[in-house]
Amino acid sequence: MQLIQGKQELQAQLSEWRVAGEHIALVPTMGNLHVGHVSLVDLAREHAERVVVTVFVNPTQFGEHEDFAGYPRTLERDTRRLRQIGADILFAPEVDTVYPFGIEHATLVSVPYLSENFCGSIRPGHFDGVTTVVARFFSLVQPAIAVFGQKDYQQQMIIRRMTEDLSLPIKIITAPTVREDDGLAMSSRNSYLSDEQRAVAPKLYETLRAIGEQLQAGQRNYDDLEGDAHAALEAAGFEPDYVAIRRAEDLSMPNRDCDEIVVLAAATLGVARLIDNIVVTI
Ligand code: PAJ
Repeated sequence: MQLIQGKQELQAQLSEWRVAGEHIALVPTMGNLHVGHVSLVDLAREHAERVVVTVFVNPTQFGEHEDFAGYPRTLERDTRRLRQIGADILFAPEVDTVYPFGIEHATLVSVPYLSENFCGSIRPGHFDGVTTVVARFFSLVQPAIAVFGQKDYQQQMIIRRMTEDLSLPIKIITAPTVREDDGLAMSSRNSYLSDEQRAVAPKLYETLRAIGEQLQAGQRNYDDLEGDAHAALEAAGFEPDYVAIRRAEDLSMPNRDCDEIVVLAAATLGVARLIDNIVVTI
């Protein structure tokens, strides 16, 4: 595996592969890799001869008071891990490489509406930062496929929309959420939890599953389900941002004909902001 930091070196290698007719898969990450990220790389490998993983803690998707400075940066360990699992390139650029005109003067890519609700309303500008950096990696790497995790449901939906709207010839694949044994979705931010909070954290997924069961049992009073879940999370010590029952296809309010539902939640526990979701067929 090659560890590459510069654009020219990256593009020289990529064009060799392209000339040889090899397909390239891209897995964008912010590093501090865990088994969830590894599953994305494994899936990418099933779809393409070459896998490029980016590790870049993207400043433009963090709010002013968020954890950009403290976000765990573990490039050496990430490099070892990616080498073991057979990624072909780890692209870990500096901020100036990704934003050559500076962050303030960067061309923005923004997907309206889908970026404005849920995590977008709690973290204004967050998804503009995500689409801006993902669009940059898409145009640098020009992959045939790109893999994202279902764990960030709204994110993968926004990236799908961006790709379709800009007619980018990239197939977006969404990988299932990888969980700890007790159900907690794996996340780099889980390391912010104290032992006590870590014991409470699986309650987020339990709460989503309880809603899923009620939906499958025929309950359709979404306001009540959301409200009860909110209260249950608060009682367990979370500060919930939202619990939302929506159409899986486009995050709109479900109507009577809707059979694929996504239940999304975000809640803070201590200093860790956790997000999770489940998709249920009703
Ligand atoms: P990051 O949080 O590092 O996640 C990178 C990718 O891993 C995302 O597609 C995310 O959905 C996926 N992922 C995270 N935890 C997962 C889990 N438990 N199971 C399966 N997949 C999981 O998401 C980002 O970085 C950034 O916003 C990024 C897209 C890289 C843009 O900067």
